[in-house]
Amino acid sequence: MKIRFASPTLPKANPLVVGVLADRKLLDTAQQVDEITGGAVGRAMKAGRFRGDSGQSLTILAPAGTGASRVVLIGLGDPAKFNRLAAQAFGGAAYRHVSGHGNKTATIAVDAIEGADLGGSDIAANVAYGARLASYRFDKYRTREKPDAKPSLDGLTISTDGAAAARRLWRPLDKIADGVFFTRDLVSEPANVIYPATLAKEAETLATMGVKVQVLDEKRMARLKMGALLGVAQGSAHQPRLVVLRWDGTGNAPSGRPIAFIGKGVTFDTGGISIKPSANMEDMKWDMGGSAVVLGLMKALAGRKAKVNAVGIVGLVENMPSGTAQRPGDVVHTMSGQTVEVINTDAEGRLVLADAMWYCQDRFKPHTMIDLATLTGAIIVALGHHNAGLFANDDELAGRLAGAAEAVGEPVWRMPLGDAYNKMIDSDIADMKNVGSRWGGAVTAAQFLNRFVKDDVKWAHLDIAGVTWSNKSAATVPKGGTAFGVRLLDRLVSEHYES
Ligand code: BES
Ligand code: MN
Ligand code: ZN
Repeated sequence: MKIRFASPTLPKANPLVVGVLADRKLLDTAQQVDEITGGAVGRAMKAGRFRGDSGQSLTILAPAGTGASRVVLIGLGDPAKFNRLAAQAFGGAAYRHVSGHGNKTATIAVDAIEGADLGGSDIAANVAYGARLASYRFDKYRTREKPDAKPSLDGLTISTDGAAAARRLWRPLDKIADGVFFTRDLVSEPANVIYPATLAKEAETLATMGVKVQVLDEKRMARLKMGALLGVAQGSAHQPRLVVLRWDGTGNAPSGRPIAFIGKGVTFDTGGISIKPSANMEDMKWDMGGSAVVLGLMKALAGRKAKVNAVGIVGLVENMPSGTAQRPGDVVHTMSGQTVEVINTDAEGRLVLADAMWYCQDRFKPHTMIDLATLTGAIIVALGHHNAGLFANDDELAGRLAGAAEAVGEPVWRMPLGDAYNKMIDSDIADMKNVGSRWGGAVTAAQFLNRFVKDDVKWAHLDIAGVTWSNKSAATVPKGGTAFGVRLLDRLVSEHYES
């Protein structure tokens, strides 16, 4: 979808979207439409319950006096609460109301909002962002879909007084959306299409944007003694990969310690020999969600040329049961030298991350390391689908993540770490086992990862098992792969780690 910004003019045809504040207070363009239609807007509002509350909408079809095929009123609520997220939700709602009626273009009128903290251009850019995020669709495998069932819209005009300024603010947002779409595509692809080798190929496409991409194969990882990652991979016909990405955005040769992002990339998780029940096992195609977020994030950072030195590392394996698969009770040697008794082959993500994280610290000495993983069902029991679990060994980093999460609407909830939990994964025959008891499963998983974090590294772990995929559409997130984490971490970087 092509998005353009233009100075305010009423469209001669096609849909027009206008905003209405709480208590039916019409913004300028809505007011104008009301006048040229002889009061049609006011009459339509009075004919029903539309009051301009956020979440409300009202469509007037082909009102006389304008050429617009429909005028859509979107409720924007209390102007004092109108922030960037509200502007994005406005864009998302607008897109959904004008995308499927046969017209190829539509106009969203963005007027200044008195009493809002946000300037007109900022609102316009965020309306565009929300509309673009809402327009995502993964339909490449729907070969018989009738044209009428597809969105018809391919261009969107945002009309605003500050078109030039809005365009400038929009540019980086557009790049972040590119990253989000990349992640959503990768998460949506089935596991017969996306497996370690093909996911590594997708990562390599970022090289055209100036990201340095290096792919390590099984042999290389064996030489590095990544016994935990390789143990997971050994049951699959697909060979594992470790992909190392670098975005050096500070101009000169990278100096100083980077920030690093690590992603769990289990392209399919059957559970291995500790096999999962078949009901909903298809969901486990998105067990590579953490790795897809890291790739989408690197794409966003490179796209908007972020002034940061960032490392992204994704551990890619498929967890399968077979004659070569690892067994419950096997002991593996991690790259760190620590040994792990594999009690449950379905607790595989932490094994992959342990080696990926160690490699990262060994090679890049990051000051801060953040991992993302669809790690445990237990985090879904704890938090449902509305928060990612946040674990951190540093309060300042946790606070920064919470702040960024709130700003972008990807909420996180901090979970505890502690000695008592750590003891739960002591093993009788190795340095640790890969599962604790039934209780506190998300925490013991985080404790496991914590054993692979060096002392001088600020570390946070995001358990995104509950938020990587959604069965329900939200304002700017259509159902399916959410790319939860891309916007959050991009924001973290722009707020705290760019020079
Ligand atoms: N990938 C799963 C976690 C998961 C479960 C993600 C459901 C999304 C939805 C992970 O590898 C796993 O299987 N974890 C086990 C750990 C257990 C064996 C200690 C779990 O959560 O059941
Ligand atoms: Mn598993
Ligand atoms: Zn898994």
